[in-house]
Amino acid sequence: MTKPNTIRGDWEPHAGRLADELAAAGKLTEPRLAEAVRAVPRHAFVPTYHQQTADGSWARCVSVDDLASVYANTALITALAPAATGGTTVLSSSTQPGLMTRMIEALHLIDGARVLEVGTGTGYNAGLLAHRLGDGQVYSVDVEADLVELARQRLAGLGYHPTLVAGDGAAGLPEHAPFHAIIATCAVPAIPWAWVEQVRPGGVILSDLKPAPGAGSLVRLTRRDDDRAEGRFDATYAAFMDLRHTAGNNPAGFRVERDHDRAEYRTTSLDPNTPWASLLVWFLASFDLGPEIAYGYTLPEGGKIPAHSDTVPTASWIATPDGSWAEITLAAQNGQHEVAEGGPRRLWRLIENAYDTWTDLGRPGWDSFGLTVTPGTHTVWFDQPDSEHTWYLAAPVDDGEKFGAAGRAV
Ligand SMILES: C[S@@+](CC[C@H](N)C(=O)[O-])C[C@H]1O[C@@H](n2cnc3c(N)ncnc32)[C@H](O)[C@@H]1O
Repeated sequence: MTKPNTIRGDWEPHAGRLADELAAAGKLTEPRLAEAVRAVPRHAFVPTYHQQTADGSWARCVSVDDLASVYANTALITALAPAATGGTTVLSSSTQPGLMTRMIEALHLIDGARVLEVGTGTGYNAGLLAHRLGDGQVYSVDVEADLVELARQRLAGLGYHPTLVAGDGAAGLPEHAPFHAIIATCAVPAIPWAWVEQVRPGGVILSDLKPAPGAGSLVRLTRRDDDRAEGRFDATYAAFMDLRHTAGNNPAGFRVERDHDRAEYRTTSLDPNTPWASLLVWFLASFDLGPEIAYGYTLPEGGKIPAHSDTVPTASWIATPDGSWAEITLAAQNGQHEVAEGGPRRLWRLIENAYDTWTDLGRPGWDSFGLTVTPGTHTVWFDQPDSEHTWYLAAPVDDGEKFGAAGRAV
């Protein structure tokens, strides 16, 4: 593919270095995809990006002024919006190139494969796919119409013309199905059945599955003839921004007052950082905690932790919409942290139980777990689909997308 020579900056050596770096790290092994990384100028899709500064505000960076940063294996924040809770939220980003190449390789694409990407964003990944497979094989959808339009212009400026659509990618693109693969670059609370219907038998769905905030990772499913999709989680944890059904930011969450006067107190030896530090335990706990969980750190004087701040939190906390909450001091005495719990459920106990389960299973990694999806069920299993250790997400209840109560099957 010949590219117009209007792209600013001496970017090709940077793109070449990025390809070499990803190859050396084992994240880029297919020669044809490596060729795409060398040929597609990332900074044409990310002409500017946002970087958070020490005081928590966002600075705008111009890519052509620092090409080395744009051709590094890092995610770049490309679109911001006012958050429903105040402050700023991220609407779109350019994913880490190494994660992108790992995911594309995990699709096991052959020439002629048709691929649907959910989450066009900047269009860079669609550019890599179009370079690798050809325009006619690549479809990409994003809920943000203006991002789709920008991506279309940038791709066309480089000579790429994949099919881009503005809309809710949870519905897939039935008019262009069937696909050999669907790759989602946003996180879903459950795999939409429409995706299973729109991949061919033997085709692959690769998505970040997060049934609850922060709880879950990349899963690679193969559609089977018997109308189910099944597969394992990827060995390496990954986190994408959440899918939202409408453009703009996600709705505001919920608040639970932590009334320490009416709390029950006890101690725990479990690390209070578990929701962040032990992501598989957090995932297993989420089946009991439910799909809506708020969590964070408590500061000595209250308020939020500014980015890169030196403020040291005193405790971690979690809460669920039924009014349950737990707060765990970070400081320990003889290895014991103080736990305060209030509301109808003892949330920290659920996390301790999940930790015990994970320990009893031999502290397995993500790829020891898998997922089976049928029209009405999502079953997570340990080791094998017919395992005695399974967890389930209950059937969709309201809008057909968001799963209701989650639970443990066995
Ligand atoms: C991490 S970015 C994607 C990065 C992109 N693949 C690239 O190469 O730049 C995630 C994208 O998912 C999009 N998204 C969120 N909800 C969506 C939905 N329901 N359907 C399609 N895209 C969605 C966001 O607007 C955002 O652009």
